[in-house]
Amino acid sequence: MSERTLWTRLLWLASGLSLGVSCHRSDAELGPSYADQTFTSVCAKCHGSNGRGGRPAAEGANAPRNFCDSGFQASRSDEQLKRAIVRGKGGMPAFGTLFSDADLAGLVRKIRSFDPAAKKR
Ligand code: HEC
Repeated sequence: MSERTLWTRLLWLASGLSLGVSCHRSDAELGPSYADQTFTSVCAKCHGSNGRGGRPAAEGANAPRNFCDSGFQASRSDEQLKRAIVRGKGGMPAFGTLFSDADLAGLVRKIRSFDPAAKKR
């Protein structure tokens, strides 16, 4: 194992432990879908491919939500998540009519898949 791989694993392990649960799901488990691809290519830039959020898009802006936080997940209805995607919110861009209702539903499912509580259901 190269030194870099080892470091990546250690960092990954450390972040998983600090959350008490790892919220990464392998692609094999989810299956590559339109929502997965969209999330990876469009949303992950800010939200991270693991959904944990990350850096604010601009100085002073709110950081993207951590989708691995069950408290956040529980505080939002599916409709509220869809509305945020369509209309935007703070540093979150408005996607308007870019996504169909079916696309939005897929993206909401994708966001829900990061919820550690959902795994126990
Ligand atoms: C330019 C960076 C950026 C991109 C790209 C982005 N987001 Fe966000 N997103 C944010 C930020 C910042 C927030 C936090 C907004 C706030 O609470 O002020 C956020 C919040 C959210 C929320 C939570 C809204 C709420 O109810 O608090 C959802 C859901 C969301 N994003 C979904 C998506 C999806 C799906 C995509 C891809 C289609 C996406 N985002 C792309 C930056 C981004």
